[in-house]
Amino acid sequence: MKKEQNFSILIAGGGSTFTPGIILMLLDHMDTFPIRQIKLYDNDKERQETIARACEILLKERFPQVSFSYTTDPEKAFTDVDFVMAHIRVGKYAMREKDEKIPLKYDVVGQETCGPGGIAYGMRSIGGVLELLDYMEKYSPNAWMLNYSNPAAIVAEATRKLRPNAKIINICDMPIGIERSFATILGLKDRKEMICRYYGLNHFGWWTSITDKDGNDLMEKLKDYVKDNGYVVNTVDFQHKDPSWKDTYMKVKDVYALDPDTLPNTYLKYYLCQDYVVAHSDKSYTRANEVMAGREKQIFTAAQEIIDKGTAADCAFHVDNHASFIVDLARAIAFNTGERMLLIVKNEGAISNFDEDAMVEVPCIVGKNGPEPLAMGKIPIFQKGLMEQQVAVEKLVVEAWAERSYQKLWQALTLSKTVPSGETAKKILDDLIEANKEFWPELR
Ligand code: NAD
Ligand code: G6P
Ligand code: MN
Repeated sequence: MKKEQNFSILIAGGGSTFTPGIILMLLDHMDTFPIRQIKLYDNDKERQETIARACEILLKERFPQVSFSYTTDPEKAFTDVDFVMAHIRVGKYAMREKDEKIPLKYDVVGQETCGPGGIAYGMRSIGGVLELLDYMEKYSPNAWMLNYSNPAAIVAEATRKLRPNAKIINICDMPIGIERSFATILGLKDRKEMICRYYGLNHFGWWTSITDKDGNDLMEKLKDYVKDNGYVVNTVDFQHKDPSWKDTYMKVKDVYALDPDTLPNTYLKYYLCQDYVVAHSDKSYTRANEVMAGREKQIFTAAQEIIDKGTAADCAFHVDNHASFIVDLARAIAFNTGERMLLIVKNEGAISNFDEDAMVEVPCIVGKNGPEPLAMGKIPIFQKGLMEQQVAVEKLVVEAWAERSYQKLWQALTLSKTVPSGETAKKILDDLIEANKEFWPELR
């Protein structure tokens, strides 16, 4: 790709609550990442239509030279594309609600990407993301897919194993949100003023070093804050502002206490404070309900307002973490910038005492040929033990999906640190199979 090129972007999962944020971010960066075309693709025509019509108005007002279209036809969508930014949710919020509520019935963590809920979501997402990759391969084989579709850990393992040559990079914005909190705690203007070392699996990792650009340590000051306050700061980023997220940011202090040498990802709460999480869950009103009443409603109301008024002049859309990261990544590939970014990649020695074939989250240098992982060295027994257990869960899920194996999926659930026994795992699994009939392959 040449610098003077203008790019064509496809957003897959066009009806997502995050689509307007991505479009706004793309528009904010037209000078450094010029775009000639934006297309939306979804398999739910009505849902996408509301978001698309609002974005169409916004684009016409701000960048009429950018061509815009939306479709449910894969050929139209995937033809003539440089980057696919993918964030689909197979089964939508209705299935997320079941992922969260079914385990809770058995007093087990009910979460979008962790434990049995994440496994159930993984079993739905694998087929959906592979389908997108196959469309991309068929209609725009030189394109890159930047994939946010969750559960990113399981999706990444599935694409590694089942589409080993695909040009896909799996990403997560949680560390970005957390690093923004770090910057606020440290009184820095931008998270990019810090250089971070981090290792783990997706939603399962630790910072081991944070310095300024001159190499001076910033971890000690952060630790001093985190031991009392977790990651709660006054200006919590927009995406993680709801009360349940604030609780998660606060609970970090207890997760941190387990290993004061590192700073943890917020999601470790679901594996290390399982009983607390269950005790603090409302079995009839979970995060899915909060999102449907909150983010989904706000975004779709804002979109409808734009359509009704015929203008996006003072619209309520906003840019979120999700978006800024994805644009940075596209630019790094397009212009070979060599930017350092945290990505989910094949280990291949980056963590020297961990499975070479595991999909791990580590800092990478990103250029036009994709990410090059940086060496994070050896990890301690505590983290290694936890990660080996969790990566085995993720690998078993992908094998279960590929082989249609009930046995392997039962083993995956049993092995999850969130589940107390094989018996409980089986009860949850049988309920999940019933709920996911429309989406999972039939297991034998
Ligand atoms: P959403 O339900 O609002 O949007 C998802 C869209 O995907 C829906 O419009 C749906 O119709 C569409 N879809 C479902 N299956 C499809 C398929 N097979 N082909 C095409 N389109 C399909 O969900 P959301 O809350 O906006 O989240 C979107 C995705 O982004 C989720 O997977 C979410 O977990 C993920 N996400 C990831 C990160 C991260 O850190 N990796 C951050 C934020 C969101
Ligand atoms: C974080 C995670 C994502 C997750 C998102 C939204 O940013 O990294 O993987 O999807 O939060 O969660 P929510 O509960 O708000 O839908
Ligand atoms: Mn994530």
